[in-house]
Amino acid sequence: MIEQWKKYIWIGVAGFIFAVTLGSYVVINYAYPFIPEVLVDLVRKPELLKNAKAKDCADCHEEIFEAWEKSRHFQAWTSSVFIEDSENRSKEKCLSCHAPDVVTPGEKPSLRLDHRDDGVFCISCHVRDGAMEGPFELFSPPHPTRKNQDYRKSKFCSSCHPKTFKEWKAIGKDAICQDCHMRRKPGRLTQKFPLSFFHSSKQVANHSFPAGIVEDEDIAVDYKWKGTAITVKLTNKFALHNLPTADNGDPRFYLYLTLFDANGEELDRAKEILAPQQETALVYGQPTPFLFLAPKGAVRAEIEIMRKPAWTKEKQSIKKLEILPSN
Ligand code: HEC
Ligand code: HEC
Ligand code: HEC
Ligand code: HEC
Ligand code: HEC
Repeated sequence: MIEQWKKYIWIGVAGFIFAVTLGSYVVINYAYPFIPEVLVDLVRKPELLKNAKAKDCADCHEEIFEAWEKSRHFQAWTSSVFIEDSENRSKEKCLSCHAPDVVTPGEKPSLRLDHRDDGVFCISCHVRDGAMEGPFELFSPPHPTRKNQDYRKSKFCSSCHPKTFKEWKAIGKDAICQDCHMRRKPGRLTQKFPLSFFHSSKQVANHSFPAGIVEDEDIAVDYKWKGTAITVKLTNKFALHNLPTADNGDPRFYLYLTLFDANGEELDRAKEILAPQQETALVYGQPTPFLFLAPKGAVRAEIEIMRKPAWTKEKQSIKKLEILPSN
């Protein structure tokens, strides 16, 4: 008899826990406007809206924080090339985009006073008017949030990338900066239990803001080798801005042409620089011709395209191919 009751009690307890869990899930994700303010205030962390550092967000947004730590945005203030070019950060006009206060989409930010070593950080891009703004309509117990459509627009990036934004706009295609530089995939916004359990899965954007994403087929190579004249035409078929693009840095692509004789000996190696600062970057969809002279005895050549980001001296190979004279 007692054994029988025990069974029902267990079923009752399990049912209760299940109902509370399900109820909480539904309330947190769908019925949150009905949660009383007094309850919300108990779990709020007002310090997150006051002079926080990026590290303070890591407690809950661990994955986004770790991605951002790998990004150039995190390096914006401490980058050695930036320090050199801004004359040890003495050039006033250089500082604001590299350690911005609040970002208002479309407007150049002003320089912030604290935590400058965090560079372009979470707080610049997300804290506005007493809330964490973002692309979602959702409920976050620790801090207020507000949905803002601008997070899914290129205009958001234009505050600090105005030249690149202009190039992008002139092309007039639909894909926005975030589609290529903040790819989204399903996941949790937070990794902290129990928040990670109660908040539904969403689309999470890659906060490492990757730039080295050009692949072999993204730059088309067309060539003609007739007698001593070699014409190589390059076309940027993918990036919806010049390649490379820059507002202040000096990123470069290089086009190398190495010529060989019949014995496989190198005869000559020519180089072209593709750089925004020299106005030789590849315009989207527009073939750019480069002319070379083949020395006597050249029977074969190798074309190589390399990338050098603004912040390093190291080059990476993107594409390599062999060409032969056409007779
Ligand atoms: C340069 C500006 C910028 C910085 C810096 C930045 N974010 Fe974001 N964040 C965005 C944009 C833009 C989106 C919307 C992306 C989308 O949905 O396409 C976003 C989205 C989010 C979201 C919603 C989920 C998602 O991925 O869409 C969270 C949460 C978030 N960011 C947290 C953070 C945290 C925490 C940091 C710091 C570690 C940070 N962000 C740094 C611009 C930024
Ligand atoms: C104590 C945990 C906690 C901390 C610390 C925290 N957040 Fe959040 N945040 C959340 C939760 C929970 C959500 C909602 C997640 C969900 O619904 O999937 C959220 C959502 C967000 C969103 C999405 C807003 C929207 O409407 O799209 C942004 C942006 C954000 N947080 C930024 C930050 C930033 C910036 C910091 C650091 C200053 C921070 N958060 C610190 C728990 C936290
Ligand atoms: C507050 C100013 C600011 C905003 C807003 C901003 N950026 Fe940046 N971004 C920078 C700075 C400064 C750098 C250069 C950091 C460095 O290397 O010193 C940078 C670097 C980058 C890089 C890396 C470039 C490289 O050479 O590796 C990418 C990609 C990028 N940003 C994309 C974006 C996208 C996409 C957005 C919009 C969602 C955005 N940024 C919004 C200031 C900003
Ligand atoms: C269709 C995809 C696509 C879109 C949209 C796009 N980019 Fe890019 N972006 C690229 C590719 C590809 C590269 C080349 C990176 C490399 O070196 O491999 C790049 C490079 C960059 C760089 C680094 C400098 C360089 O040229 O190597 C920055 C900064 C940048 N993009 C910012 C932006 C901003 C800001 C927007 C929106 C106005 C934007 N991008 C839109 C694909 C895109
Ligand atoms: C309008 C915002 C803005 C201002 C102002 C600005 N920068 Fe930048 N800076 C950027 C952005 C965005 C990037 C990333 C890619 C690019 O070059 O467009 C960048 C990248 C760089 C880089 C290459 C990345 C690195 O860390 O090595 C250097 C160097 C640099 N800036 C130096 C300067 C100097 C020097 C000044 C003042 C003359 C300056 N910047 C002013 C936005 C700005």
